Amino acid sequence: MQASAETYNDKIVRQFAAVTVLWGIVGMAVGVLIAAQLYWPALNFDTAWLSYGRLRPLHTNAVIFAFGGSALFATSYYIVQRTCHVRLFSDKLAAFTFWGWQAVIVAAAITLPMGLTQGKEYAELEWPIDLLITAVWVAYGVVFFGTIVKRRVRHIYVANWFFGAYIITIALLHIVNNMAIPVSMGKSYSMYSGAVDAMAQWWYGHNAVGFFLTAAFLGMMYYFVPKQAGRPVYSYRLSIVHFWALIAIYMWAGPHHLQYTALPDWAQSLGMVFSIVLLAPSWGGAINGIMTLSGAWDKLRTDPILKFLIVAISFYMIATFEGPMMSIKTVNSLSHYTDWTVGHVHAGALGWVAMISIGSLYSLLPRLLGQKEMFSVKAIDLHFWLHTVGVLLYIASMWIAGVMQGLMWRATNPDGTLTYSFVEALNATYPYYLGRLAGGLVVLAGMFLMAWNVIRTWQQAGDLVPTPVLPPDTASAHA
Ligand code: HEM
Ligand code: HEM
Repeated sequence: MQASAETYNDKIVRQFAAVTVLWGIVGMAVGVLIAAQLYWPALNFDTAWLSYGRLRPLHTNAVIFAFGGSALFATSYYIVQRTCHVRLFSDKLAAFTFWGWQAVIVAAAITLPMGLTQGKEYAELEWPIDLLITAVWVAYGVVFFGTIVKRRVRHIYVANWFFGAYIITIALLHIVNNMAIPVSMGKSYSMYSGAVDAMAQWWYGHNAVGFFLTAAFLGMMYYFVPKQAGRPVYSYRLSIVHFWALIAIYMWAGPHHLQYTALPDWAQSLGMVFSIVLLAPSWGGAINGIMTLSGAWDKLRTDPILKFLIVAISFYMIATFEGPMMSIKTVNSLSHYTDWTVGHVHAGALGWVAMISIGSLYSLLPRLLGQKEMFSVKAIDLHFWLHTVGVLLYIASMWIAGVMQGLMWRATNPDGTLTYSFVEALNATYPYYLGRLAGGLVVLAGMFLMAWNVIRTWQQAGDLVPTPVLPPDTASAHA
């Protein structure tokens, strides 16, 4: 069978891949700065736009939406083309998603330090930026699903199911949670109030974790782990069960963010029960990813990219075991408000999200640049160790600090008075803040190493020849 003349649109993938590294460095550098501010508060230099309260949302938006989002655009555009054997539905719309998303990121980087915010965690951006996000997201949906519709293989590979669910769900979450009445260009009031506002916010917040930070990255896992291991996914049947179970259960777990609040008690218990049930599909999916390596474990010794991918899945298992435990009311009464939550977040964010993205990029970039491998495989290995050690330092510090804080805050004397003042608990936390800062710096150093490796690989690539689209009837759909 002759290859068709049509080629893949890899330019858009390269663009998103490049900015992933850039925004990763920026977002993590801000993370390091705010980690340092918690130890040395004077680092805000008495300047409003450098204050912790303004830089913290800048960090979360930069790492989740700029770094994570760009990684997802890059990989979903790559995977949907390669598994459907067609070029993207529309080059122009795809280009719009790139420039539109970069405009959103720049607007966030300007308005958040100015203190313009809706005050909703992970949905801080004000209404004009929200409208731009909506436009970009609709275009993304059209490009992605348009490509699926014009596919030339009958089957829709499971990674696309995960990406599709993420695109639809994020649209729904974004629109519902951001319903607001504008009063000026930089200020709006939420349509919801009181407990309803809290419930809408954490329905959004939790599903942003479930669909942005989890489902979509599972799409990445289902493509790049088999690809890098050179083996088919362990159980295709399990991947379908995994998909439907995860999608069905995630939606109901949001109230675990609101234990012991004004939310009705039954809603809190419902959130807890669904969170515990969520352990099963999460681990089922993770085991499916890891077992893809069965019979080829030796590759882990020599391939640092596989190390990134498999350790990412291990951190996913840690976070998805810990999360259901933290949703149990009695455990949550200890963990809530403490750094334990922050440790959990980064086991998921730095361990799972960042490592699966970095591993996938190292696997993807040489293919995009017509190279056999990255400029330096040794540097990938060093990056792997820097990242792993950094994440472990970060989360171990936060786990110890968090449990200690929880125990100190609740300790009482026989006469009912508190054993420790708040400041004593804060003082006891300081060494762990330093530990977290050290971990963050090591992770950031790894990101700079990655940037160097990417630039060198790009430099040696020379002229790029577009890759022809595979013919429709090729048996191996995931080439
Ligand atoms: C060098 C790496 C990083 C460092 C040093 C870092 C540092 C921090 C710090 C200091 C906070 C504030 C904690 C607090 O308020 O007590 C934070 C919050 C957060 N970070 Fe990071 N971070 C890093 C990477 C990431 C990445 C890659 C992601 C996501 C992909 C991420 C997602 C978050 C989220 C979601 C929060 C809010 C947590 C919450 O509200 O409980 N971080 N980070
Ligand atoms: C079975 C899966 C999971 C469950 C049941 C779960 C459960 C929880 C619980 C109970 C909390 C603490 C709520 C509180 O006390 O305020 C929490 C916080 C959080 N989790 Fe998870 N988690 C899971 C997986 C993950 C993963 C994989 C990630 C990241 C990729 C993640 C990111 C977060 C974030 C960002 C927060 C902090 C939200 C905030 O307060 O700003 N979770 N999760």
